[in-house]
Amino acid sequence: MRYTFLRLYHLVYRYILWPPLSLLPAQKVHHLILAILGGLDHLPPLVMFFRLLHRLAYAESPCEVGGVQLKHPFIFAAGFVKGLGFEDEQTALQAVHQGRNIMMGWRTIPALVGAVEFGSFTRRPLIGNQGVVIWRDNRSRSTQNRVGLRNPGAVAAAEFLARHHRALPPVFGVNIAPMPCTDNPSQETQDILESLAAFLERGVRPSWFTLNLSCPNTEDDPSCRQTEAHAEQLCATVVAYLRQHGDVPLWVKISPNLSVEQYRALMQVFQRCGVRAVIATNTLPQPSPTNAEVMAGVGGGRLFSAALAAVRALSQSRAHASVDIVACGGILDGESWYAYHSLGIKAAQYYSAFIFRGPLAAAIIESESQNCYDHN
Ligand SMILES: Cc1cc2nc3c(=O)[nH]c(=O)nc-3n(C[C@H](O)[C@H](O)[C@H](O)COP(=O)(O)O)c2cc1C
Repeated sequence: MRYTFLRLYHLVYRYILWPPLSLLPAQKVHHLILAILGGLDHLPPLVMFFRLLHRLAYAESPCEVGGVQLKHPFIFAAGFVKGLGFEDEQTALQAVHQGRNIMMGWRTIPALVGAVEFGSFTRRPLIGNQGVVIWRDNRSRSTQNRVGLRNPGAVAAAEFLARHHRALPPVFGVNIAPMPCTDNPSQETQDILESLAAFLERGVRPSWFTLNLSCPNTEDDPSCRQTEAHAEQLCATVVAYLRQHGDVPLWVKISPNLSVEQYRALMQVFQRCGVRAVIATNTLPQPSPTNAEVMAGVGGGRLFSAALAAVRALSQSRAHASVDIVACGGILDGESWYAYHSLGIKAAQYYSAFIFRGPLAAAIIESESQNCYDHN
């Protein structure tokens, strides 16, 4: 039954839904889908229907990762359900108090895909980069973006989720990023703690918090002279804070372009500080399709080998299993997931697969990976 349903879904997405979408610019599709989701969030019967589709598509495959019990090893990565950008906190809060849906997909997407990481959210709202900031390369099944952390800010995001507290999914993560261009480390730490507090003080307790170290810190500093000390200070402070405030597990997200030594140093920091999982990786900076002088983060097929190498380096540096590794980067089919799985990885995040294979991508990928197990 499940197999037949997934086969049918695969054919419908590949031959009916994807062809027209693939002809439109990536950014247009992104905004179109979010606008539709924003409307669907207000229609509980449809959300129930999506939950039914989820149940038909996903095999129960429970796994524990980073201190979180997941029903399925796949999590929809940060960046899709993160909400609108605003000029300032007051305007963002006003929109929430007026009842606007500032975080399109917050209800619909978890119903369809299961676990989702909301965000990234920064301490204050950001409007992000203007113009064309999202691209897609259909041949390599890659995405590329320089959205620039557009988001409503942690306070408005938390206020919005608190308003919908009863309808929040049972398992979800919240991704927190430092404000860009914060040179002062104590200001950065303060911003992060205030962002966490914004959620916890409003009774919004995610299953995990992710600290997005990869954006912008590590990419700004490719040689990362201070990364080890910086990550240690930040992670130790955040873990201590979370232990005193409900003991929410801390995960950290890192970039794919670090040296093996840096991965080793970071893994040791995470082990020392009590970080429960590391998400490897965020996107890979490459020249944007429209201006080679401007960098934009690549996900999907063109990220796969760099992310896999990062995961390999991290798993080789792990002295014990106190820090789980959550694979993220180019997981588009059974084979790419199997490549991570063979390194001992139990759980994954994905973004590009949602675009190229549709909302039930994770169920398809897991079902395809069964063939890899059978042949190995
Ligand atoms: C349009 C877009 C926006 C993104 N925004 C965020 C973000 O705000 N925070 C974050 O941690 N990752 C963000 N990401 C990165 C994804 O979460 C993921 O790490 C990356 O796309 C690699 O996964 P993939 O190869 O499955 O696409 C974004 C990705 C895309 C394509």
